[in-house]
Amino acid sequence: MTAVQPMPLLLDPMPNASSDAPIGIFDSGVGGLSVAQEIARHLPNEQILYYADTKHVPYGARSDQEIRQLTAQAIEWLYRQGCKIAVVACNTASAFSLDYLRDHYGERFPIVGLVPALKPAVIQSQSKVVAVLATPATLRGQLIKDVMSKFAEPAGVKVLMVTSLELVPFVEAGLQMSDACLAVLQQILQPVVEQEADFLVLGCTHYPFLKNAIRQIFDEKLELIDSGQAVARQTAYILIKNGLLCDKTRHNISRIECFVSGNNAAVLEPVLQRLISEQLTWTIQNLDDVVA
Ligand code: DGL
Repeated sequence: MTAVQPMPLLLDPMPNASSDAPIGIFDSGVGGLSVAQEIARHLPNEQILYYADTKHVPYGARSDQEIRQLTAQAIEWLYRQGCKIAVVACNTASAFSLDYLRDHYGERFPIVGLVPALKPAVIQSQSKVVAVLATPATLRGQLIKDVMSKFAEPAGVKVLMVTSLELVPFVEAGLQMSDACLAVLQQILQPVVEQEADFLVLGCTHYPFLKNAIRQIFDEKLELIDSGQAVARQTAYILIKNGLLCDKTRHNISRIECFVSGNNAAVLEPVLQRLISEQLTWTIQNLDDVVA
């Protein structure tokens, strides 16, 4: 893994962002585009600035401190670009950074984070067994533990924790329907089906892009659930509350401008072509070309 650079010095407060400013969205890689697309559908007048730290992906095997530091750098970049809000579209980054980011930016810069959608799964489960598929870092974080003790334990629902470090690289490479990826999914999810879980919580934003692969193997045996729509609604709510919702109609279509670290734009362009809905317009460029 590449060494993590020291945290940059933070700037003085930016002037208050206007409703015309973009929504900033961050993930370690392409996974947060599953969230960005829900936000784009829900808020079609907004511009989206998406930053993928593809130089350091995957975050899932990194230490708590590394994850927090990389996330803080990414969010600071979105802030300096003049975004009006930041969405940490990554369960792993959220698990170790939300408190720090909210303390740091306070009222100046609203931060929306993610936690695996365990609550709706617990509420709807008939078998009283649900599974959460997430990175090792997300599963050791406090956010998921809080949701378990608040919702799963009182409802008597058993939660099966499932993890793999192999899935995120498949999605980053656009290989989510490959035989190798299907074999990993079969191997890690078969025990979940055998233990009669009826809901599978996709607790990493890369995993909604695995829905077709999971359905191909397990058909309707597992109900799949993720946080994308809830995050889109929460983002809208916070924008409205802060008077920051864009009131200009922009041809009813959001534009997603993607920036990637590690000079990966050319490699990722064909991957994004398959991941992003044809109804959305988007661009991709290397972050180094912008900051150099
Ligand atoms: N997309 C990130 C998440 O939601 C994880 C990917 C990674 O391991 O970097 O947890």
